[in-house]
Amino acid sequence: MNADSGTNPKTGTLTIGNEHHSFPIHHGTSGPDVLDIGKLYGKAGIFTYDPGFTSTASCESKITYVDGDEGVLLYRGYPIEHLAERGDFLETSYLLLYGDLPTAAEKKDFDFRITRHTMIHEQMVRFYQGFRRDAHPMAVMVGCVGALSAFYHDSIDISDPHQRMVASMRMIAKMPTIAAMAYKYTSGQPFVYPKNDLGYSANFLRMCFAVPFEEYQVDPVLARAMDRIFILHADNEQGASSSTVRLAGSSGANPFACIAAGIACLWGPAHGGANEAALQMLSGIGTPERVPDFIRRAKDPDDSFRLMGFGHRVYKNYDPRARVMRDICHEVLADTGADDTLLQVAMELERVALHDEYFIEKKLYPNLDFYSGITLNAMGFPPSMFTAVFALARTAGWIAQWMEMISDPSQKIGRPRQLYTGSTRRDYVDIKRRG
Ligand code: CMC
Repeated sequence: MNADSGTNPKTGTLTIGNEHHSFPIHHGTSGPDVLDIGKLYGKAGIFTYDPGFTSTASCESKITYVDGDEGVLLYRGYPIEHLAERGDFLETSYLLLYGDLPTAAEKKDFDFRITRHTMIHEQMVRFYQGFRRDAHPMAVMVGCVGALSAFYHDSIDISDPHQRMVASMRMIAKMPTIAAMAYKYTSGQPFVYPKNDLGYSANFLRMCFAVPFEEYQVDPVLARAMDRIFILHADNEQGASSSTVRLAGSSGANPFACIAAGIACLWGPAHGGANEAALQMLSGIGTPERVPDFIRRAKDPDDSFRLMGFGHRVYKNYDPRARVMRDICHEVLADTGADDTLLQVAMELERVALHDEYFIEKKLYPNLDFYSGITLNAMGFPPSMFTAVFALARTAGWIAQWMEMISDPSQKIGRPRQLYTGSTRRDYVDIKRRG
């Protein structure tokens, strides 16, 4: 591609065969420029090919910015470290949704509105009984969040901005209740209803861990850790699940269905499921002395083993969330007095990998999921709940992405094209004559 002269070119030219085609270049406020090839097929009769979207911007967005080379993550311009250190999750949710940090009055009002939506319809409680007791909490969440559209008919008209906002509030508010109930159901304990004099994260811990026969005191260290974990997971630009939410939403599907689609995508081990996989891997390694064996396996091209919680499509320096998560991990382990063997294994694994040529050359660093499993485990969550916690927090980001897409006047249904390599046209052969 040739760009026209100057440091801020307005067009770029693609040469295909003997033909030159000019396309606009758009400049963001940060990050690489984009070549707008929307009219490429019309002009040149050719598609672009980019499996995994490694060089393709799928949308314009003002929500989250990632600079993977510098290890930077900004929500609406604010560094993730500052938000996790000084703010709280509902403030971050407000920021993602509305674009600016709230004033004190706006924050109070937002917290109040979220708190008023924490209950789920009592009929939905029965919905849980349809699942097997050993169902994975993510399976339950995909089902229950999708089912919200069957319960809240007054907030599924996506052309109405008021209904869109009500649906958004409902999902942020109800997600802790839905996730906690999934946990209680699979552990065979009675559901614990929300208690509105508690903060968002304290309420979630109580709904997960309180039992009817004794008073549950929320540990403030754990409530704060939970809140910071939610902040770290709240958004990450156009990751697979956010892109899924946008693609599902582009057809005009209702917001509850779109978020359920995001949850389904998040579940995979290459995405949100990596925290569960990382803890299983650390448990499998067992002791720091066994780390070199597993490093060897991760580097062996004939072995499918990968270091879970390592590597990222975008973060090629260090995942800034991993650094904060490591601090939270130390705080939680100190507070709970939990066995820190797995933390020792994780630290040794990180130390060895960061000095190993293979990982240095491929720019593989610990990601958010590397320390989150150990932390959540020490807080009392079983591995199957890790991704559910991630989904709960990412709901704020998914909704912000969905809201932005729906409000964009240029929005249209997402419809990628393909490179077809199957059979060309052939005649149908009667079954008796095949063989
Ligand atoms: N362990 C060992 N080798 C690795 C790893 C790893 N964790 N990750 C990547 N590689 C190697 C890979 O084998 C490949 O080598 P080669 O060039 O010789 O073929 C090279 O590094 C590039 O890997 P890739 O799979 O082409 O990179 P990607 O950008 O497509 O994948 C990833 C990114 C996150 C899927 C991948 O690094 C991975 O599978 N990591 C483990 C799973 C994980 O921790 N996922 C959580 C991501 S962060 C949370 C979230 O956003 O959901």
